[in-house]
Amino acid sequence: MKICRLNKKQTNRFLMETKRAYIIIFIAISIISLVTKCASALTIDTNSFVSNQILSCPTDNSITIRIVPKKVLQIYYEYGTTSYTYTNQTSIVTSSPNVPVKVDVFNLLPNTRYYYRIRYKDPIEQQFTIGEQCKFMTQRAKGSNYVVTLHGDSHLYDKKGVASMMRVTMNNITSDNPDFDMEMGDTFGDDRNPPAITQEQMMALHLNYLPYIGMVGHSSPFFFTLGNHEGESGYWLLQTPPNNIAVWGTLARKYYYSLPEPGGFYSGNNTSEVYGIGLPQNYYAWEWGDALFVVLDVYRYCTASETPGLWDWTLGAQQYNWFKQTLENSNAKYKFVFGHHVRGYGRGGDTLVKYFEWGGYENNGTAWGFTARRPGWAAPVHQLMVQNHVQVFFQGHDHLFATEQRDGLIYQEIGMPSDSTYEIGWLANSDAYKGVNKFSGTGHIRLSIGPDLARVDYISAYEPYDTNSTHHNRAVIYSYTISPNTFVNEEGNELPESYRLEQNYPNPFNPSTKIRYEIPSAGYVKLTVYDALGHEIKILEDEKKSAGIYEEMFDASEYPSGIYFCRLHSGEFSKTIRMILLK
Ligand SMILES: [Fe+2]
Ligand SMILES: [Fe+2]
Repeated sequence: MKICRLNKKQTNRFLMETKRAYIIIFIAISIISLVTKCASALTIDTNSFVSNQILSCPTDNSITIRIVPKKVLQIYYEYGTTSYTYTNQTSIVTSSPNVPVKVDVFNLLPNTRYYYRIRYKDPIEQQFTIGEQCKFMTQRAKGSNYVVTLHGDSHLYDKKGVASMMRVTMNNITSDNPDFDMEMGDTFGDDRNPPAITQEQMMALHLNYLPYIGMVGHSSPFFFTLGNHEGESGYWLLQTPPNNIAVWGTLARKYYYSLPEPGGFYSGNNTSEVYGIGLPQNYYAWEWGDALFVVLDVYRYCTASETPGLWDWTLGAQQYNWFKQTLENSNAKYKFVFGHHVRGYGRGGDTLVKYFEWGGYENNGTAWGFTARRPGWAAPVHQLMVQNHVQVFFQGHDHLFATEQRDGLIYQEIGMPSDSTYEIGWLANSDAYKGVNKFSGTGHIRLSIGPDLARVDYISAYEPYDTNSTHHNRAVIYSYTISPNTFVNEEGNELPESYRLEQNYPNPFNPSTKIRYEIPSAGYVKLTVYDALGHEIKILEDEKKSAGIYEEMFDASEYPSGIYFCRLHSGEFSKTIRMILLK
């Protein structure tokens, strides 16, 4: 063995290189641990709490924080607008074992990132334990860039979903850093075995889900769209009340989770229900940045029977009128609507859209049934959304990813977050989706919203042992972009500089469409619709109007499919557009 003795110069160089190597290793370890910490879930003191705290109902100046302690604890939250600098704190609350603690935080600034953390202790202890820092946003200002996430049909309760797979997706959602997360239903599974299930079991189903929602909900508020398997249907509400799955399900959901109630910030269901339910928090809407978000309940007002007829599925007059008003009153650049599935019954998105309350036609697809079946209602749900420039209807229920479009409105079906076979929905329901943009797999939807463009990404999830050269966790499987509506309402301050008649929207249309025009100075206006032969069939406007931007609706329910023309005449200006009615 040859032994080399180093001279002083060599020794110094060796020491310097060793020191440098140690520094590099130290930095590398620090970076790795930091990355690991960022990517890993928030740790939770499982001796003290059922799950991480869950945020809900964020507004421009408040937010709700809920946590379920396992024992008697004194709890408060400290918060502020700078990371790890907490300038405010909530009052100390003393908890009871397994009873949710709900804390409302008020007087916040709008469009502001807040940092917060829990502090808690046994009443006999001196020192408060400090939880990990979490964060949230108050209502975004118009013009903001932000992300929201969507997932649904986790089905952990009936074992279609797998807990470890669900955790992969929830970690992926956390990595997207969404302002809030929308759970699309079939979550709690209350409608299993309805005559035999007990209220205690229903409570347990809701309690059991807290740890999964808590993985995301500590920093991204929880919103929820009721699924058919929540069991909160109108039919069940009427069966031997209050001892039925719908009453118990609503009570359990409200006991553990908060959803919006109408007030200054949210609109929604303001009808209080009996049996201790109060406001059911089942449909609601709010604006965030440049977008309107509307959550529908397609089940609670269907009371006919356990297996309703096709016209029995309904939003109900009250929810419908609120929905119409909400869409019409909003000038948001983006309008997104969420419902567990189209009209509450059937498989598919676009496949179902044409019929019954959603599209107006009878089962044969040619007879118009809406006017007689829904007297006094303005338009079927689909047409209402099209007329009001809704860009996407997000739905779950069919457990695959599919993007379809009708009349310019996208129907976006969302797959499961928890399917470790990656093909439950694909095998069962892909036939109900006719388009080419449909995918098997597991994951979530990321909706990135900005003032000039919004983007929808389908993000994959793979269990670590299923990840390989083609199956990447957190890969973007499919994307598309959505342009903002550039609609300016009649009450807007902007005055047009010239005459203008825009192409009707939507086009083709069925049975109604909007026609927008602008006049730069006061004058007599005539807006006339002609058929293909040039016969005048409808006068939409015929009066003197002041300068401004106007919009008229053309309802062609009584006319056959074909080409129509609309002419605007005002002063010296005259222009005609071509419209296609496709029934
Ligand atoms: Fe489902
Ligand atoms: Fe479902």
